[in-house]
Amino acid sequence: MEPATLRPAAELHVHLRGAMPPAYFAQLLERHPPARALAQAPERHLAFFRRWPHLAGFLAPDAPAGADLFGFSTFPGFLASYLLSGYFVRTPADFRGLLDAVATDFVAQGLRYAEVTVSVPEYLMQGIPLEAVCEALSEASRRPDIRLRWIVDLVRNFGHDAALDLLRRLLARPPAGWVGVTLGGSEAEFPPGPFRESFELARAHGLGLTVHAGEAAGPESVWEALRELRVDRIGHGVRAVEDPRLVEHLAERGIPLEVCLTGNVKTGVFPSLAAHSLPQLDAAGVAFTLNTDDPTFFATTLAGEFEAARSLGISEQALGDALANVERFAFDRDACRIRFSPLRLC
Ligand code: ADE
Ligand code: ZN
Repeated sequence: MEPATLRPAAELHVHLRGAMPPAYFAQLLERHPPARALAQAPERHLAFFRRWPHLAGFLAPDAPAGADLFGFSTFPGFLASYLLSGYFVRTPADFRGLLDAVATDFVAQGLRYAEVTVSVPEYLMQGIPLEAVCEALSEASRRPDIRLRWIVDLVRNFGHDAALDLLRRLLARPPAGWVGVTLGGSEAEFPPGPFRESFELARAHGLGLTVHAGEAAGPESVWEALRELRVDRIGHGVRAVEDPRLVEHLAERGIPLEVCLTGNVKTGVFPSLAAHSLPQLDAAGVAFTLNTDDPTFFATTLAGEFEAARSLGISEQALGDALANVERFAFDRDACRIRFSPLRLC
């Protein structure tokens, strides 16, 4: 008999558009040819896209169906691809279709619970009304085949005033399944501290707090997130190893990291999987979960992330802990505690 392997069925850090099945993206490209989709884009976005050779196919006048969205090798190059992909989700129907395509794909992979990060400001920027976004999220959270919960990405690049304004609008009419907030986007340019008021407000309303930190910036960004935003979890946090005091602090306080191995390599945070800091963090007793982040962009799956961790020498015991940590640190523990059976053998 084959040796039994753990089958992960839940994750805490996956971006909605980052999980868009390629076939659905192809449909969106047909619906919205690049020249039209980008016609209203502000010059600062177009200039950002033009910096990256892998995106040239989208910007040519007779743009062929955008060959190389996934051809980045740096973190800013990835962010450009990610931002660009948002220009093709333009209507409430596109957004609902995205949710449905992603949920269907998750179910097919055996996922039963996922906290999905939704970059709400980027959909609003395309002209989709907030009410339509919230309605679609509420509806998807009621699916019988998977428990989807939402982490709203306030997207740091939009600035703190916009974040606070969006948060207040959402709190006035919260979508069903909304469990937390985060900040994605350019960590190096937009540190966490200035978003303190938004995070305080979110906490006061019982939302879970996480933030992308220690991914594209160093330990000081993680310290600032802990001190100023008082987050419950850290998205990535893997550059904490550059400061042994921070590693100690994370371990002592039991602050979990949402680790996304493949994405860290594909975006150049580490030069190779072998150079990843997870073994050091694990050895120091830092709690972590394993996640896909943007599985379509990084060509990975949740099962693939567990394989990657194994290939780094992470023990079966630690992998079992990583699965148990999903339930332990989920922002909707009751929904997660469904018998997705973190230790299910297959
Ligand atoms: N948006 C989507 N994926 C992201 C990541 N890994 N870091 C920051 N922002 C993101
Ligand atoms: Zn992320």
